[in-house]
Amino acid sequence: MGIEVIRQVKGLILSGGKGTRLRPITHTSAKQLVPVANKPILFYALEALRDAGIRDVGIVVGDTHEEIRAAVGDGSAWSLNVTFIQQEAPLGLAHAVKIARDFLGDERFIMYLGDNLVKGGVTHVVEEFAAGDANAEILLAHVPNPSEFGVAEVEGDCGPLDSPRVIRLIEKPKEPKTDLALVGVYLFDATVHEAIANIKPSFRNELEITDAIQYLIDQGRHVVSHVIGGWWKDTGKLDDLLEANRILLGEIEHCIPDGSDVDSQINGIVNIGMGTKVINSTIDGPVIVGANVTIKNARIGPFTAISDRVTIEASEVEHSIILEGATIRGIGKKIVDSLIGKDVEVVRDGDGPPAYRLMLGDSSRVALQ
Ligand code: TTP
Repeated sequence: MGIEVIRQVKGLILSGGKGTRLRPITHTSAKQLVPVANKPILFYALEALRDAGIRDVGIVVGDTHEEIRAAVGDGSAWSLNVTFIQQEAPLGLAHAVKIARDFLGDERFIMYLGDNLVKGGVTHVVEEFAAGDANAEILLAHVPNPSEFGVAEVEGDCGPLDSPRVIRLIEKPKEPKTDLALVGVYLFDATVHEAIANIKPSFRNELEITDAIQYLIDQGRHVVSHVIGGWWKDTGKLDDLLEANRILLGEIEHCIPDGSDVDSQINGIVNIGMGTKVINSTIDGPVIVGANVTIKNARIGPFTAISDRVTIEASEVEHSIILEGATIRGIGKKIVDSLIGKDVEVVRDGDGPPAYRLMLGDSSRVALQ
């Protein structure tokens, strides 16, 4: 009788980092917990790993560890065993792997950047990697602007069903030889630890995972690639975050709870939470609205996600994400392409001379027209 050996693959999610491109939100909160279609980005990663059959997940955390620990708990909400791994400073993706060594042991693992979203999950690549003999597998996506990414050169043609060998990785090349960008998901066996022990910090003083992978290639290890079929977003900057929100809002279900206080025009797919009041307003879906929100004399949507306890009155909001407890009132012009933080107030003061009165956190951005 044959014995089937199923290799266990561990998960490693990176949720530390500086988050400079999403300031001021990241001055006070973890960017991995910003909700996209009203669900924290990190939760999509946890779901993807759970769906791939992974049980043990390490989450690398930095300064925002308390918030992430509180949101994820012990992982049982996803049937996962979660271990938190504290990184004393964001010293690079390979540094995060280095400090996770005790958790990882010599197991194969998938490393998933906690601010990335990969449509269609990672089940297929985890199964492929668990069953195969590659030392590393990287996920790639065709992009129109490869010089803004880490780019891979691979052997032969690279279609969605191939796993071509990787020849070279180049960070943000001026003249890219391919349009294949590195997606924030990587799979490794234990040889990566030897590679990381042999690389030096880069000019930005980070231990780079691309250097570790290049080391594996140069040592003749078997590094393969997989071009993803669906979309992928690195939500580390505002435009991409809003774009991810726009795409994921395309998948929400229409839901107006029984007995909810909705006295308004609702067009398209709109999902409204419990205890929310929508009065004399228009909502153009896709729009998701959390619980205990008040929307009055307002126009919302399309492509807008509103978290719990938000108040929007006498204002228009389109293609935006509004976080918990924010208030938007009496704004004469439409608010578009915006991310409004927790408990932020954007209000028109009644009387007084026409003027802007602002109290903005460090690195805030206000665009007026
Ligand atoms: P990045 O977005 O590349 O880096 P960052 O978070 O410092 O952001 P910015 O460039 O805007 O300053 O990081 C990708 C993911 O990896 C993200 O979820 C943060 C995480 N990360 C760590 O956990 N440890 C690290 O040392 C680094 C560099 C990133």
